[in-house]
Amino acid sequence: MSRPTPVHDATGPTRPPTTPARAQGSAHAKAILLGEHAAVYGAPALAVPLPALTCRAEVTARHGGARGLVGLSCTADPQGVTAPVSPPPPGLVSLVAAVLRRPGAAWLHGVDVELSSTIPPARGLGASAASARALTRALDRLLGARMSETEVFAHVQLAERAAHGRPSGIDALATGSAAPVLLREGRTSTPRVGTEAWLVVADSGTPGSTHEAVAGLRLRFETGPLERERFLSASTTVVDRGLTALADGDLEELGRCLTEAHHLLSALGLSTAGLDSLVTTALEHSALGAKLTGGGLGGCMIALSASRAASARLAALLTRRGAHRAWTARVEAGGPA
Ligand code: MEV
Repeated sequence: MSRPTPVHDATGPTRPPTTPARAQGSAHAKAILLGEHAAVYGAPALAVPLPALTCRAEVTARHGGARGLVGLSCTADPQGVTAPVSPPPPGLVSLVAAVLRRPGAAWLHGVDVELSSTIPPARGLGASAASARALTRALDRLLGARMSETEVFAHVQLAERAAHGRPSGIDALATGSAAPVLLREGRTSTPRVGTEAWLVVADSGTPGSTHEAVAGLRLRFETGPLERERFLSASTTVVDRGLTALADGDLEELGRCLTEAHHLLSALGLSTAGLDSLVTTALEHSALGAKLTGGGLGGCMIALSASRAASARLAALLTRRGAHRAWTARVEAGGPA
């Protein structure tokens, strides 16, 4: 079916009759199981979706007035209060500008954006990538552009580069994937999960900064290239062992890999006293393994459990022992045979 031709008036092209005046898009949180930071240097990383924590974007078309991202408001849990965000994050401004430059978008002068998110920001759970993905999806629907997943990914990465410099792409991928994601040297695949597993995600209550963590590590590695090589090699080994354990359904070995990964990240100064204390508490109380997740320097940790009941008990315990909040998430069995 041919697309309706936009009508032109004195101020430029107007909205094609079949396109909506507003549209929505959504994305979810993610947790990095293994390989954060090493992923920035092309080493493998493994992330799982956290579909219970979501970000929704609603975009409303503007005709005339300012161009690009005109107004941004955000509703964040747990308060549920909507507040304007001014100035809007540069990454989202660049994203909207890039989408508005697409062929067929000339009728769209600018947009107002409303984000509603239950993903806590600056906690290593992919809040910035999820908001960029939700916004890209909403703009895609508004324009009827039918972007491919590659195009959506490129727009999320554009926003992520503004947010934290050199994103590997693992957050941009995992916030839109229903299954676990493996990223290795820029290529994506779905790992096999041999048996169901449960994660506890616990918030240390202190914000982390991925930008600061990634930039700090880059500086550290510039003066210590040997440390960089050792870290990348050890991280790759632990991810590969973790992948085999995940495929075999060997949760005890997977847990050991998580804890080893925490020690690797902690040795680089990426953990905090709060994260270390939650990791230790989890390991002393039934967790098969535990580690910080995401950029570190604050934010969240994850712990591995073999059952829903064990993860619920551990989440409650971590909340009593200093976690600001805790969630449980199922990692479903499946993936390629
Ligand atoms: C952030 O969630 C994960 C990092 O490895 C950065 C990245 O891969 O872009 C720290």
